[in-house]
Amino acid sequence: MPFEVYPLKERIGSRVEIDSKYLGHPEEVAEIRGLLLERGVLVFKEQHLSDEQQLGLARLLGTLREELGKGIYKITLDKKSNAHAEYLKGSFLWHIDGTHDDIPPFATLLTGLTLSETGGQTEFANSYAAYEELPQETKDRIDNLQVVHSVEVSMSRAGIEPTAENLEYWKSFKPKTHNLVWTHKSGRKSLVIGCHASHIVGMDRSKSDALIKDLLDWATQPKFVYRHEWTPGDLIIWDNTGVIHRVEPYPLDCGRIMHRSTLMGEEPFA
Ligand code: OGA
Ligand code: MN
Repeated sequence: MPFEVYPLKERIGSRVEIDSKYLGHPEEVAEIRGLLLERGVLVFKEQHLSDEQQLGLARLLGTLREELGKGIYKITLDKKSNAHAEYLKGSFLWHIDGTHDDIPPFATLLTGLTLSETGGQTEFANSYAAYEELPQETKDRIDNLQVVHSVEVSMSRAGIEPTAENLEYWKSFKPKTHNLVWTHKSGRKSLVIGCHASHIVGMDRSKSDALIKDLLDWATQPKFVYRHEWTPGDLIIWDNTGVIHRVEPYPLDCGRIMHRSTLMGEEPFA
């Protein structure tokens, strides 16, 4: 195997050492995909991929999702570069991408181009392990619950003051109901929670708030979390269907720019 793999935490994350040329080879990429499903997050330190190399890797890992018509989406909070910058402040809270859809993106590739001097480190929590290690009585209690997910709720929790235009954009994402416990095609189960989890269907609001908070606290306790401290050129790939993530707040005008490519979802929440 032309690459080496080192675990980052027991339950989440591996660092992969590989010559970039192999990231264009289908055989190696197939192995990397298997590793991604197993470990949730893969870190490639100082890989310095060009956009073309990142796109090539994305296309070998799955089906590239053309966000806003482009395979490379620039993550920045600078309003001059991104009209939806305000919305990205929601990423400061624990979340899964795409809970406003039936089929969330499968995975994300993120290259750190320009970093922030303060904050801006990214954290990932393994939502498969978090479910698996719940006490059996909790599993029995939550297995059949459903949760309403709402972009508006996540924005208000993120403390974002919407402009009329922002509000219109967020409202274009309608609330969606998903099972709290996702049984994947593989048979594995994960928790579907985050700042977008508004409330549990049919449950008293204060009980629902407490349960959502308890489960998110449980899933994001240190043993399930890998925190990535960025070095320029790092590439991270995460399995969006099996991890929850967030980025530490950073100054909006600090110039932080990440190049993101997302892969189409391969199965609906179920
Ligand atoms: C994302 C995201 C985190 C970061 O791209 O979906 O949450 O560190 N990014 O920018
Ligand atoms: Mn995100």
